Amino acid sequence: MTDGKRRPLRSSAWFDNPADPGMTALYIERYLNFGITRAELQSGKPIIGIAQTGSDLSPCNRHHLELAKRVREGIVAAGGICFEFPVHPIQETGKRPTATLDRNLAYLGLVELLYGYPLDGVVLTIGCDKTTPACLMAAATVNIPAIALSVGPMLNGWHKGERTGSGTIVWKARQQLAAGEIDYDGFMDLVASSAPSVGYCNTMGTATTMNSLAEALGMQLPGSAAIPAPYRERGQIAYETGRRIVDMVWEDLKPSDIMTRKAFENAIVVNSAIGGSTNAPIHLNAIAAHLGVPLANDDWQAIGYDVPLLVNLQPAGAYLGEDYHHAGGVPAVVAELMRNGKLPHPDALTANGRSIGENCAHVTTDLPDVIRSFDRPMKEKAGFINLKGNLFDSAIMKTSVISKEFRDRYLSNPDDPEAFEGRAIVFEGPEDYHHRIDDPALEIDEHCMLFIRGTGPIGYPGGAEVVNMQPPAALIKRGITALPCIGDGRQSGTSGSPSILNAAPEAAAMGGLALIQTGDRVRIDLRKGTANMLVSDEELARRKADLLARGGFPYAPSQTPWQEIQRSMIAQFDAGMVLKPAVAYQDVANS
Ligand code: FES
Ligand code: MG
Repeated sequence: MTDGKRRPLRSSAWFDNPADPGMTALYIERYLNFGITRAELQSGKPIIGIAQTGSDLSPCNRHHLELAKRVREGIVAAGGICFEFPVHPIQETGKRPTATLDRNLAYLGLVELLYGYPLDGVVLTIGCDKTTPACLMAAATVNIPAIALSVGPMLNGWHKGERTGSGTIVWKARQQLAAGEIDYDGFMDLVASSAPSVGYCNTMGTATTMNSLAEALGMQLPGSAAIPAPYRERGQIAYETGRRIVDMVWEDLKPSDIMTRKAFENAIVVNSAIGGSTNAPIHLNAIAAHLGVPLANDDWQAIGYDVPLLVNLQPAGAYLGEDYHHAGGVPAVVAELMRNGKLPHPDALTANGRSIGENCAHVTTDLPDVIRSFDRPMKEKAGFINLKGNLFDSAIMKTSVISKEFRDRYLSNPDDPEAFEGRAIVFEGPEDYHHRIDDPALEIDEHCMLFIRGTGPIGYPGGAEVVNMQPPAALIKRGITALPCIGDGRQSGTSGSPSILNAAPEAAAMGGLALIQTGDRVRIDLRKGTANMLVSDEELARRKADLLARGGFPYAPSQTPWQEIQRSMIAQFDAGMVLKPAVAYQDVANS
């Protein structure tokens, strides 16, 4: 690495360009002012960025401030030079109106940084829900060598001898509060017990999902996704990640070499096996779009539906992040898929230069109740169903959280054509839902389906995580804790609700949901994959003309400039809610 005969790197256009000494001097002089020497900057060593997503505003990723020190040591040890810089922070639980709004903002910002500064490679510090897709999307667009480092999940939460999982405990605690079983203080204590350390959500929510999938895609070192944030192995893998990116630069191993169609197909299968979040199709479809890899929601059903749920983590199961790590994490899941011929592409390349099959084939699990075998899965056929009809062109249902009764009745028996039908109760966004859910005039009973609209990427800028709605308190007291929920918003990956969500096009884009009215009959046929209002085409045409005459589906005005900009150019959830003009820019560092 120090032979001096290496090919010139991208950064040499800034720091060592004899054809333009004026600009070279200008580029170099200011970086000298904190102690780097000119000899270092002109040594021909790779300049490696650490894209820092941690800050006080983003506690899930904050531990990256510590881990970056080990990354630096790894980079230097392997013969690189390190430039750490901030990425627009995204905290899932702190950002109003929603953290998703910022995924594309962080993406845009990071694209500009990776493209416009003298970086030869980058370590992407991933973790909290949207930070992972934002970083991978930017790496996809710019396409310089990149490796991801997860911050790792929090330790397991505990309360009165039981595991309490991030997010999942909130849904439970809310029901206990609504039923009068706990008071306000008890509620706060119960929820806080699920967050015992640095790190991200310890459940199989969107964070554990996306970090697992970043590894399944090949963008992290094998075995690294599941290591809990405070564990010593987390610092050790940070060091190894720093070492590895330097070699990746010399090998010119780029995101487009790793995140191929094969890698996405592997990730879809892994997502089913881990019981991954319904946010995964949105984010992976977006990453793929920025690479020019075709990927659509039909692929998720075709490739992923048949795969059993193997990982026993909340919300679909019992355990949490530490257990997942001790059970072997992603490699143990991949190995079990491989043993059963279910990993479509064991030959897909990963960041360490070996295939995912080579990395994982030998791995077994020490905790067979946490990562199950194919003989003893948590559920058979646990992937997503992609529904279509006059309600929407595409909406996702996560089958791994469906109750056994529901599954037996509507999904498992191919000879019984039963579909579920119900009366629609329609809410105009989360505020309307909270305001009216307990209104006796709605006469909500167990034969109702709850609809929420105006909550897609345009209607509620970025899309709200609100589709999983609780039934009215009166029903909960009678023991009915869930009703079918349908909407154009999203739902937290930590929710176990069997919702039909991410509907596209959304109501604000004049999709079918804009036309449904409270009282309409709705028919969902999971076997056929259809979702329809039992309303005549003539009546729907009349409602649509009415709505258009009133100026289209109403939504609240933007509160910030970014909300307005994003609304004007955002794709729907099935297309990854990418910024449409951005998709045309691919491989930008090399074109
Ligand atoms: Fe950040 Fe769940 S809120 S990972
Ligand atoms: Mg979330």
